[in-house]
Amino acid sequence: MKILTILGSPKKSGNTATVLSMFEEKVGTDHEVERIHITGYKVGGCLGCMKCHEKKDEPGCVQKDDALTIFDKMIKADAIVYASPLYCWSFSSQIKPLIDRHVCLVSDYGTPEHDSLISGKPVALLVTCAGPIEENCDAIQGIFAGITAYEKVASKGNFILPFCTTPDAIGDEGAELAANLAKAITG
Ligand SMILES: Cc1cc2nc3c(=O)[nH]c(=O)nc-3n(C[C@H](O)[C@H](O)[C@H](O)COP(=O)(O)O)c2cc1C
Repeated sequence: MKILTILGSPKKSGNTATVLSMFEEKVGTDHEVERIHITGYKVGGCLGCMKCHEKKDEPGCVQKDDALTIFDKMIKADAIVYASPLYCWSFSSQIKPLIDRHVCLVSDYGTPEHDSLISGKPVALLVTCAGPIEENCDAIQGIFAGITAYEKVASKGNFILPFCTTPDAIGDEGAELAANLAKAITG
């Protein structure tokens, strides 16, 4: 299985990267894993022109930036993990442009022909945050539910590590979350 992970934190070795690494190490022995750290890619905000909907068999985005490279990797992957720190109850601003640009992967939304270029793929959400899950992580989970339905992908769940302080302090709870994520995405 080819697993693509997308790290949406501005930090290369922060809390989210630490838990994501635990997941990657867990699945890396039996599966091929590629990580995209979003800060290494130039992804502009969606222009809302909807030109992309003129093409169904490829991402027809007019912006020829690194989003197209990422989409190519997503299309070729067997599973995708989106990893983000919780920023103001939502995705980080580093990964949000990529989320918006997903619009060019989808065709015929709202009709019986609704489809996407990554339709059916197992996907999961990994989040780290400083606060609790309850009354803190509702928005990001709602957005992810919307995106997965829009993409017609198979959501394998939301994996959230609450009360994070520093990467060094991420212990057994992080490892357990990573193991559960591994089970969900490969099982
Ligand atoms: C701009 C900003 C906004 C944040 N917003 C929230 C929030 O709404 N809820 C929360 O629990 N933590 C919030 N946090 C804390 C981060 O989610 C938390 O420290 C996370 O584990 C950082 O991951 P990272 O080290 O990968 O960047 C915020 C941190 C920053 C810098």
